[in-house]
Amino acid sequence: MAVRQIRVIGDEILTKKCKPVKEMTPRMKELVEDMFETMYQANGVGLAAPQVGILKRLVTIDVEDGNQYVLINPEITEQEGEQTGYEGCLSVPGKTGIVTRPERVRVRALDAEMEPFELEAEGLLARAVCHELAHLDGQLYVELVEGELMDVESEEESGEE
Ligand code: NI
Repeated sequence: MAVRQIRVIGDEILTKKCKPVKEMTPRMKELVEDMFETMYQANGVGLAAPQVGILKRLVTIDVEDGNQYVLINPEITEQEGEQTGYEGCLSVPGKTGIVTRPERVRVRALDAEMEPFELEAEGLLARAVCHELAHLDGQLYVELVEGELMDVESEEESGEE
């Protein structure tokens, strides 16, 4: 396991559309482990593969609900409601902004064993899912911010994704 370098805004790779994962190879397994390690080391609640320079449809999420989510080739199949709140991103260090996201989403994805599963997410988990999935299509939350992007004043102000 290793902590990988997190790409930051301005890096072209963050604007690219990622390719589906076809199989779980030892290399991909290592990537998943490294993404968790990188995410935890940076105090993040979510990380998408392009943030460590890999253009694959893979995200890791841990919003401290007792689960470590690996979402491979994820798709949002349903969404409902609305939540408006602060968001941050490990690729946009030191910044935060207000973004409106669905309150609940249903996601279809493959897990780390490439087995299909469905996840029903709400609140912070739904926000993290939406934020991370957008990374897979080369989109950063800064494009969705309502008002100004602000400097983070305290580390607790926002979940970094
Ligand atoms: Ni992010």
